[in-house]
Amino acid sequence: MNKPRVLATRPIFAPLHPVLEEQLEMEYWQERERMPRAELLKRIGEKDGVICITTDKIDEELLAAAPKLRLVTTISVGVDHINLDACTRRNVIVTNTPGVLDDTTADLAWALMMAVARRIVEGDTWTRSGTWNGLEFDHFLGTDIWGKTLGVIGFGRIGREMARRASGFKMHVIYNNRNRVSAAIEQELRATFASVDALLAESDFVSLHVPLRADTRHLISGASFEKMKRTAFLINTARGPIVDENALVDALEKGVIAGAGLDVYEQEPKVHPGLIQRRNVVLAPHIGSATTDTRMAMAKLAVQNALAFFEGRTPPNALNAR
Ligand code: DGY
Repeated sequence: MNKPRVLATRPIFAPLHPVLEEQLEMEYWQERERMPRAELLKRIGEKDGVICITTDKIDEELLAAAPKLRLVTTISVGVDHINLDACTRRNVIVTNTPGVLDDTTADLAWALMMAVARRIVEGDTWTRSGTWNGLEFDHFLGTDIWGKTLGVIGFGRIGREMARRASGFKMHVIYNNRNRVSAAIEQELRATFASVDALLAESDFVSLHVPLRADTRHLISGASFEKMKRTAFLINTARGPIVDENALVDALEKGVIAGAGLDVYEQEPKVHPGLIQRRNVVLAPHIGSATTDTRMAMAKLAVQNALAFFEGRTPPNALNAR
């Protein structure tokens, strides 16, 4: 019997190839640069499955070009690059990689928070510049993190890990989530539920951890910044379009908020020029889950999902299985 044909839009990790190839006829994109869209549309034609990442748009056009496609397995927890409804209509199963990147992403959110509050990147540039003349009493004065209020919007796995780290910094944690979590979780994480407006008004650091959906697009707008403290910082490791980037730049320019730590952008890979210019902003290139261990764990999970599907089992992380 012919093996199912699967396209991987990245080389993935070579040690995972033999296990895939035992059951699947694999085709990997081996180039360093991203697979051009036209190439993806061409190569997907005869495939039964695709292993992709967030920069590969799985939309109506792609599905129309892939009449045999039965599985989309993305090496990401976010699925906003995939038209889930269109996949479901065409009986294409979609899987993602939740659970294995929570700590790593929360670590990065904390790194951004600390970097922007303590002016690490500015200080690094200054230290390397050759103009540093020794300690000055009032040089690079930053903002304390310890003892402050952390507001977490989106209290799923990553949001909770964000909160868990706060107790070591003696912080007060408030959170907002579509559904309030159980009293046991609130107690464990010492977190108090608040409306979005109350959270914005009370927090010294606001960290976003909601998925990008129609109802979370521009969740943080000009009006949100007006509600925040002038001394507060925004941290976004979730998805760029959750924040109205023009409004963010405006708020930073006018001193409506104190700064931002960003890993994601509204129109990646474009970064708003108003962000690039600002010293009170720390920018990372969408690396929330980018550690060797975590990317390997994500890839392994994607492989497990693919193998389970083609063995006739329900994949562990199927999002639209019947
Ligand atoms: C995710 O898993 O969604 C991250 O953003 C990496 O793509």
